[in-house]
Amino acid sequence: MQLTREVRFALTAEAPHPPVTNSWGGWPASVGLAPFVLLRITVTGEVNARTGYLCNITVIDRAVRDRVIPHVHAAWQANPSGLSCSRLLGEIAGKLETEVPPGVVLSAVELRTTPYLSYRLDLEDAHMVSITQSFEFAAAHRLYCRDMTDAENQATFGKCTNPNGHGHNYTVEVTVAGEPDAGSGVVIEVGELESTVKSRVIDVFDHKHLNDDCTEFAEINPSVENITRVIWNKLEDQFAPARLARVRVYETPKTWAELTS
Ligand code: NI
Repeated sequence: MQLTREVRFALTAEAPHPPVTNSWGGWPASVGLAPFVLLRITVTGEVNARTGYLCNITVIDRAVRDRVIPHVHAAWQANPSGLSCSRLLGEIAGKLETEVPPGVVLSAVELRTTPYLSYRLDLEDAHMVSITQSFEFAAAHRLYCRDMTDAENQATFGKCTNPNGHGHNYTVEVTVAGEPDAGSGVVIEVGELESTVKSRVIDVFDHKHLNDDCTEFAEINPSVENITRVIWNKLEDQFAPARLARVRVYETPKTWAELTS
């Protein structure tokens, strides 16, 4: 069984007075203009038969408030733009893994530094660190298979096969995983991840008609599944020594496809 607790907090100059709660908007609150981050702690183990709890979340909250937030704040103040989030995750894990109950292990720590960028340390996967960044592009497509009759296309794809196509705002989440560099603590520079995805994916598909403008879909139907495969192939060998770990493509907020390594 796994349990994940999210703790939200701002890196404020001075922590305001209690109450120390894991409020919806986070604590300390972001007063004025201050970085606001999310920390997700995942624990794994057997559920206590009497309480039904894996780990009391108040234990996690208290450990984060008492031991983690002061450390994150100090690390950020010491080196605001040069902070290695990969290294920080290791330090956070070190402070939390002794706090969980007997028989329960800390299995992952994830730090979300913006709504579109997150870092995750998997303690059960050889301490690999993964970085996930979201991107978007707008494109038109028509679901249509040349080897099917118009009637078959209509029966299979319905309005999605309308002759002149239709559009989506696609969201692409790219996850790259690896061992942090011993010196810098970096798995991949965020700027390198961004520029690679921009040049190889976003610039290729943004504001295009996938069927008509993009040779990638000259022979294959631009379903969200095939778009995901095409993007995977474009990125797969781009991040060595780190590796592409996951590509997830949202066609709408209700429909997405993903490939993992
Ligand atoms: Ni569509």
